[in-house]
Amino acid sequence: MKRLTVHASRDYDILIGEDLLAASGSYVTETLGKVCTLCVVSDDNVAPLYLETVVRSLESAGHRVHSFVIPHGEESKSTESLVALLEFLAERPLTRSDALVALGGGVVGDLTGFCAAIYLRGIPFIQIPTTLLAAVDSSVGGKTAVDLRAGKNLAGAFHQPSLVLCDCNTLDTLKPEVFADGCAEVIKYGVINDRPFFELLKSGIRDNIEEVIALCVRNKAAVVEEDEFDRGSRQLLNLGHTVGHAIELCSHLEISHGSAVAMGMVIVTRAAVAMGLCPEEDLRELIAILRKANLPTECPFGAEELAEAASADKKRTGGSITLVVPHGIGDSRLVKIPVTDLASWIQKGLTS
Ligand code: GLY
Repeated sequence: MKRLTVHASRDYDILIGEDLLAASGSYVTETLGKVCTLCVVSDDNVAPLYLETVVRSLESAGHRVHSFVIPHGEESKSTESLVALLEFLAERPLTRSDALVALGGGVVGDLTGFCAAIYLRGIPFIQIPTTLLAAVDSSVGGKTAVDLRAGKNLAGAFHQPSLVLCDCNTLDTLKPEVFADGCAEVIKYGVINDRPFFELLKSGIRDNIEEVIALCVRNKAAVVEEDEFDRGSRQLLNLGHTVGHAIELCSHLEISHGSAVAMGMVIVTRAAVAMGLCPEEDLRELIAILRKANLPTECPFGAEELAEAASADKKRTGGSITLVVPHGIGDSRLVKIPVTDLASWIQKGLTS
């Protein structure tokens, strides 16, 4: 098992290994320093597989445990689910000395984290990610949110978890397309600032999964420690996300987050090649590694509709938006552009 510590406004450990779910009770007690009432939040895909194991382990450690199961999918990352969960907690009731546990992927983690951030003005929560995407990205760093009609993650808070328990065995039950989704975020770390990691990934992601997750998390922890509140360098983690979120919106969430981020990374890299900022060979390498991970690289939408969808993005400040632009694999940089230039950037990225 690997143990990493994130030093943010709250210091916390990330444990990565096998068979951690069955031992979750003792890790949670060790972290919280007491027994208390916990509410485990999960979805209807994950709960039948792992909820009983986690609840049994938490109860064996002396905790009183409630569970709250939401329908799977992005639609559950809504203000309606948030209010339902808040009311559920208040009816039990959970108090400020209690905690939430997010057992699932990014939707469960983001919703539970935001609920923990605002319930009673903030209670602790623990992340138990069960998808690759949640393990390498959303469970670490304290970004929590729900979606609004105008776009993804538009209502949220920074609220760091108290512990992240990543049991690699849970990845064995993922559908291939859900595993591929996480690969987009894994590959992203290489493109942002880590060429040697990108080279390592060429030999495959699944065979070396514990090491791959640990390297992603170490990379993310370093970024979060430098810029927890997303005012500067943390925005590098948004590589492929400005256009990616627009793709998700234009597809009415039919295109998954990882697939959209993969297309978004290709669009912004191809635009950088067209402007002479990035070598063409690096674009070819990016497309090859994404295809090897079974991710799509071509986008079905036009530049104008993507730019319009992206204009609601929270990465926009006033009339400008910050794009993450690869100048090569391992060398991505932040570029602030007028929102009015976004469509022409995207157009360059759509043209092969
Ligand atoms: N997922 C991007 C970030 O945590 O900043």
